[in-house]
Amino acid sequence: MTKPQPLRDTKILLGVTGGIAVYKSAELCRMLQRAGAQVRVVMSEAACRFVTPLTFETLTGHPVGIHMFGDTGGTGGTGGVISHIELAKFADILVVAPATADYMARCAQGRANDLLAAVTLAHEGPIIFAPAMNTGMWRNFATERNVSDLVENHGWHMVPPGEGHLACGDQGPGRLAELGDILDAVCAVRRPKLMGKKVVITAGPTAEDIDPVRSITNRSSGIMGCELARMALYHAALEVTVILGPCPAEPPWGSRVIPIRSAREMQVAVNAEAETADVVIMAAAVSDWRPATISPEKLKRADGTISLPLVPNPDILGELGARMAGRDRPILVGFALETDNLLDSAQDKLKRKQVHIMVGNMARDALESATTEAVILEDNGAVWESGRVTKTELADAIIDRISRRFAQS
Ligand SMILES: Cc1cc2nc3c(=O)[nH]c(=O)nc-3n(C[C@H](O)[C@H](O)[C@H](O)COP(=O)(O)O)c2cc1C
Repeated sequence: MTKPQPLRDTKILLGVTGGIAVYKSAELCRMLQRAGAQVRVVMSEAACRFVTPLTFETLTGHPVGIHMFGDTGGTGGTGGVISHIELAKFADILVVAPATADYMARCAQGRANDLLAAVTLAHEGPIIFAPAMNTGMWRNFATERNVSDLVENHGWHMVPPGEGHLACGDQGPGRLAELGDILDAVCAVRRPKLMGKKVVITAGPTAEDIDPVRSITNRSSGIMGCELARMALYHAALEVTVILGPCPAEPPWGSRVIPIRSAREMQVAVNAEAETADVVIMAAAVSDWRPATISPEKLKRADGTISLPLVPNPDILGELGARMAGRDRPILVGFALETDNLLDSAQDKLKRKQVHIMVGNMARDALESATTEAVILEDNGAVWESGRVTKTELADAIIDRISRRFAQS
């Protein structure tokens, strides 16, 4: 029986930097090839001090890229000039394993001071990196900052280091991830979860005007919706539309933004976009009420109490759920922000609003925060509790649940 080849027709550039785990990169190269990938290798000069390029040249049948200007520098490579642009264009995916602290620091700064860094800068596809180093180096503030910059701002995919005995004798985090985990990460990137899907996301608060200068709004930061948009793009959604209330969060580059102010404006935009969407995620905090009238002039200050009559806003999610009931598409995802009885309230809302997935979180954990604790409930009975996670991690988990539904249908 022939083995499945999840990376068939995939061109991978394997970047190898100068850490003690370099000896494992040769095995990784073989694993990628066995999974069907065409592999070419670029080594840093430091990496060539640990293992000679000959190993990789023999495994791949291609010269190894080392030097930007083609001199061998005594490292034993073939020394021909291999253009960094040509290499960057060759690769569907760049995999860097091991990734040294120094390489990551240079890439976080956008430097191009050796062949691998230049290829990394020029490469426009996904980048997977597997850091490996001594525990002290890994825990250093500068390394932490560079790693989070590469993941959060540059969009790289990290396969984090494992814990255990390190070659330097220390015990702790820093050893290269298991090679199987690196291979899995490459395969996951090759099969992006929302390939070709049209995703509509509402984000942020609404603002219901009282007069020309005052409004009723809420404390939604918009971060959750914007992180969902980032993750949807990351998983190759064809089109990501963010229907965005007034908030400081910035939707990711590449998303289409429809700015709105009131719940009624949001409803018009949602209804128009939902018709052709594969997924609608309602992460906005929509005001339940609005002032019965909007004063055309600024209300004047006066002594004593005033009262402001409020009328209910449309239930955007409920109405959409009722209209789409029984349909597989779009997959509808709602959010329940509660101050008590999270699980019961989210369960109730899942049924009442007739959505496929309901994400519940507590106001005290989620509002104006980059982290949250959530529960994801599905109409098939599945329940997942996140524990304390960043909103990026929660967004990834929600996309994962959505993609499983696509895979099942
Ligand atoms: C024996 C030895 C082992 C090393 N192991 C590592 C390591 O595991 N991780 C790391 O980040 N740096 C390690 N270094 C330091 C790097 O080799 C050094 O920072 C180098 O400049 C990295 O260059 P590169 O990123 O271009 O490969 C090691 C150095 C030596 C001499």
